[in-house]
Amino acid sequence: MSLTPDSAPTPDAGRTPVVLPYFNQAPASIVPIRPIGPEHHAQLLRHFLALSTDDRYLRFGYAASDERIRAYVDSIRFGQDEIFGVFNRKLDLLAVAHIAIEAGQTQRAEFGVSVLPRGRGLGIGTRLFARAAVEARNRGLRELYMQCLSSNGAMLKIARRAGMKVHNEGGETEAYLELPEDNYQSHLDALMENQTGQIDYWFKSAMRQWRCFWLFGRCTKTA
Ligand SMILES: CC(C)(COP(=O)(O)OP(=O)(O)OC[C@H]1O[C@@H](n2cnc3c(N)ncnc32)[C@H](O)[C@@H]1OP(=O)(O)O)[C@@H](O)C(=O)NCCC(=O)NCCS
Repeated sequence: MSLTPDSAPTPDAGRTPVVLPYFNQAPASIVPIRPIGPEHHAQLLRHFLALSTDDRYLRFGYAASDERIRAYVDSIRFGQDEIFGVFNRKLDLLAVAHIAIEAGQTQRAEFGVSVLPRGRGLGIGTRLFARAAVEARNRGLRELYMQCLSSNGAMLKIARRAGMKVHNEGGETEAYLELPEDNYQSHLDALMENQTGQIDYWFKSAMRQWRCFWLFGRCTKTA
């Protein structure tokens, strides 16, 4: 039920609404993105195992078996690479971005991302790409690189929207984004985003503990 007539201007008219992704509305203007560490190994594994065969094909370039997924998660180089995630209110990972830092002189990073179907179309993939670009830039890298199937319409849209140079070769596409040098603003942006993600995580964690305590009289382990 609307409390104001349709024609009457509301006090918030003209302002972008703040919509968090787990409310399942679009578009998400704030996406609480948080760095992920080895302590989230179980959630990472659950996220990737929840991908369908088709999605595994799109994400990894082949229909990775459960075993290959386990090996992939075990092989993540926490500390060298950067993993970012978006948690839902059950503290499951709705989305994961992996920024693989290439060793040597190339000064580039490779971006890979997956968003579970219930979180798609809310701008989460786009925001994770933007966060990855800021991170790579702040690490002094010159290029963010991405590979996907040429049939991956959603990923290509994200790449083009970000201004990546896109090269199609047969069924595969490679895309490159030249990164500007880091500056005070880019570090501040990263700090603010991490704080938002951390506060969101603490809030959801506290709510979860309260719910468990209220329902069962005891708390369960959340991570
Ligand atoms: C690709 C993926 C990460 C996109 O995540 P997402 O959170 O839905 O992305 P966004 O909401 O930020 O943007 C997707 C855009 O593509 C559009 N889109 C979706 N499907 C599309 C299609 N088949 N063709 C063209 N555009 C498409 C959406 O409408 C949206 O555009 P909009 O913002 O203008 O509405 C997600 O679909 C996914 O996890 N796919 C499986 C794994 C994968 O493909 N990973 C990429 C390989 S690295």
